[in-house]
Amino acid sequence: MVAYKSKMVERIRLPSRERRERALEEAGYNVFNLAAEDVFVDLLTDSGTGAMSDAQWAALIRGDESYAGSRSFDELESAVREVMGFSRVVPTHQGRGAENVLYGTLVSEGDVVLNNTHFDTTRAHVANQGGDPVDCPVEAAHDLASDEPFKGNFSIERAREVVDDVGAENVPLVISTITNNSAAGQPVSVENTRRVRAFADEIDATFVIDACRFAENAAFVREREAAFADGAEIVEIAREQLGYADALVMSGKKDGLVNAGGFVATEDDALFERCKQRAILYEGFPTYGGMAGRDVAAMAVGLREAVEEAYVTDRLEQVRGFAAMLEDAGVPIYTPPGGHAVYLDASAALPHLSSDEFPGQALVCALYREGGVRGVELGSFAFPDTDRPELVRLAIPRRTYHKEHLEHVVETAAAVLENRETISGLEVATEPAVPELRHFTAALEPIPL
Ligand code: F0G
Repeated sequence: MVAYKSKMVERIRLPSRERRERALEEAGYNVFNLAAEDVFVDLLTDSGTGAMSDAQWAALIRGDESYAGSRSFDELESAVREVMGFSRVVPTHQGRGAENVLYGTLVSEGDVVLNNTHFDTTRAHVANQGGDPVDCPVEAAHDLASDEPFKGNFSIERAREVVDDVGAENVPLVISTITNNSAAGQPVSVENTRRVRAFADEIDATFVIDACRFAENAAFVREREAAFADGAEIVEIAREQLGYADALVMSGKKDGLVNAGGFVATEDDALFERCKQRAILYEGFPTYGGMAGRDVAAMAVGLREAVEEAYVTDRLEQVRGFAAMLEDAGVPIYTPPGGHAVYLDASAALPHLSSDEFPGQALVCALYREGGVRGVELGSFAFPDTDRPELVRLAIPRRTYHKEHLEHVVETAAAVLENRETISGLEVATEPAVPELRHFTAALEPIPL
């Protein structure tokens, strides 16, 4: 059931078809280069793009901007303790700042790091420390139709193979990303988290949870995991699941319900001290950590709102309703949908394009051209030389769009598919030096049909 009404609005416009064509060409067929003004419904990311509540805006005004000992930091500390169960908190400017602080402290040259699936920035931070990031997803993760309930899980079997190969002494860190963003936002079960804890103990590794979307994950656990079917509260499930970890990395831009912010949290005093030192170097004094005091205050409120019943129910219902509308319109999607986005199956949508013609990117461009909708390609363009499925992510900003916006996206996708044979593939025209980051800045050109 809908849980919000609007109190402030932002005007949006659908530019003319000619303008959209021109904007796409000027952007080098890369939607990261589009001006946001030229986008009608923006589903590029759910990160930092949501609407804050009136309570958060009120907290913003009361934010304490003291350099040291800010009251807003005390509010954040209590929120993290009560909602997530951790009492030592190092704030950072966003999630990747937290990754730099924590992984910079825990990872050294030659270490192997295991994760259900490394998100791009996680992979980059592990690699930046000289570590080797290895993904251990379960097999169902890349099966677009499997109806397994926890396709985001960490594969202990795969992890064991890696450890047998490289030696436990070279694996100091095991990470579980919940939900698993790089596996279509699929959830991770509490049972799996417990098993990862036991595995980390067995090989004497530190266990970290990337908790960006912890509240969405807890809602899935309650729906799908038998042990929680008696209707436990979201906050209780979250605290139990997160409690298996030695430390958390958090991007407040997701389930912190803010536009900027993040933190590391732990119960380990020694780790806390080391993280604080690195945070002073890269982020700021440990009671503001790269955020304005007002943003710290708003994140403290946001964390509590993220585990409210009405919030999570509304959130999951909106994503699921969007997925159902797309399916009804014949648009091929990854099922079941995850917590923060619906992923389109670009290979099935544009079967006439081979993967070296970037069907996902062609679909992203077609959605913009047809209806001013912006999504993001997560296939052979973003991940060159991997065998990932050709997906397009339509991420839903929190508490932002209404059903009418999503209906417009569905109509747009249906119209694109109706004329699918007119959509041409793309080739890279210019790309930056770092291939892993090429999807952010590369320019492309259509391949004539
Ligand atoms: N970990 C995960 C699982 C993420 O999804 C992200 C960001 C980060 C870490 C980094 O956090 O952006 O605050 O620095 N994901 C965004 C996305 C960018 O669009 O999925 P950040």
